[in-house]
Amino acid sequence: MPLTRVATLLSDARPDETVTAKGWVRTRRDSKNGFSFIELNDGSCMKNLQIVVDADVPGYSDSIKNVTTGASIAVEGTVKESPGKGQRIELHATSLNVLGTADPATFPLQKKGHSFEFLREIAHLRPRSNSFGAVARVRNCISRSIHNFFQTRGFLYLNTPIITTSDCEGAGEMFQVTTLDMAKLAQRQTEIDWKQDFFGKPASLTVSGQLEAETYATSVGDCYTFGPTFRAENSNTTRHLAEFWMVEPEMPFYELPDNMDLAEAFIKTIINDVLAQCPEDMEFFNQRIDKTVLETLENIRTNEFVRLSYTEAVDLLKSCGKKFEYPVEWGIDLQSEHERFLTEEHFKQPVILFDYPRTIKPFYMRCNDDDKTVRAMDVLVPRVGEIIGGSQREERLDVLLARIEECGMNPDDYWWYTDLRRYGTVPHSGFGLGLERAVQLITGMTNIRDVIPFPRTPGHAEF
Ligand code: 4AD
Ligand code: MG
Repeated sequence: MPLTRVATLLSDARPDETVTAKGWVRTRRDSKNGFSFIELNDGSCMKNLQIVVDADVPGYSDSIKNVTTGASIAVEGTVKESPGKGQRIELHATSLNVLGTADPATFPLQKKGHSFEFLREIAHLRPRSNSFGAVARVRNCISRSIHNFFQTRGFLYLNTPIITTSDCEGAGEMFQVTTLDMAKLAQRQTEIDWKQDFFGKPASLTVSGQLEAETYATSVGDCYTFGPTFRAENSNTTRHLAEFWMVEPEMPFYELPDNMDLAEAFIKTIINDVLAQCPEDMEFFNQRIDKTVLETLENIRTNEFVRLSYTEAVDLLKSCGKKFEYPVEWGIDLQSEHERFLTEEHFKQPVILFDYPRTIKPFYMRCNDDDKTVRAMDVLVPRVGEIIGGSQREERLDVLLARIEECGMNPDDYWWYTDLRRYGTVPHSGFGLGLERAVQLITGMTNIRDVIPFPRTPGHAEF
């Protein structure tokens, strides 16, 4: 008997069809008249399959006591039209098999809702809850949409290295990778001899695949990376992870406005795809997580993003009359309170800020003629803040070398990167979207720890 998943059964199964369903019990209710109702979930959709088991089903009296919340079962039966509300069909069991029991005395998930804080402690079982099942499906839908968006535009999917020796963002937030025995080194209190180490020099986990993506963009054309990214930022916020997933498209011959157009189309496409492909899950988020999420997404997908220079944004923030905790001056890195004011209170829609001060942005961004700003762009969205960071890249060798020096970096470490400007340099641009921030925007989940299966944050790397 081929196994049919619950989502397919609920939409396609016809009365009197014989089918098998397998999954995990959400609840069981015994009626006085000698039969039981089981709500079965297999993660394929938000809804449960209602199963009716008569007492005359073989093994009923032995098995039914083990059909408790969390147990896994296999049921064969006949599809019937359901007299109940809110469900088209139900399954009348002809056989019931308990595959794995779940002791009700210790199984931590119960029918009642649990707090996200509690569920974070049981990251291995939380995907069995409605919220985390829905997050997993929407996250998957976003990943599919990301690949589709670029693949249909002819972009090449590129795998950039996880282990690297260059610090793309120049922020010193790298996790070092070493086989050196740190404990022994500490005891002897010697200097670390990186030449003796595996790679012969200090190596780290990547903070961005951008620099490597530039090498392919300037040879095979439009490309994108999509992979895990690591940042040793000690920021305990609801928007930062030490390990997150980033999508980074890189395009030759693109200037900053082209980059902005692509970023805007990209975000709108992802939203459209999730609304079309996950309507039930989105309805759940709108009812149970954030009652404004569908309205916010509708607004984002149908309106043009505001485009504003950093300097204009600073003028606006200074003159708006609002008292910010962190005062605004030209040259500061905008804080989350400033981003929220722009996107939630003032414009009430996404804002693309561009032309940031050179001093707060990495070495690779193209310098403007004003000698103060670079061709950077950040896409800010309501509730989440910065969802995309990107720029036009500096393609002029002399200017790039001067910036590398200015940032206190060693040009020798970037010989291969500067070669791209030595040989056939072209204007080019790209950006990075944090997958988890996109999941936060779309689901309305407030804490980034709840939109990645196994969050890594300071002090937390369990399971
Ligand atoms: O602005 P960022 O640092 O830009 C880059 O890394 C560029 N190299 C991208 C490029 O141009 N190819 O990071 C890009 C995005 C941010 O806008 C944010 O969405 C996400 O990555 N991000 C994080 N997400 C979760 N936790 C963190 N610690 C993050 N840091 C950045
Ligand atoms: Mg950024």
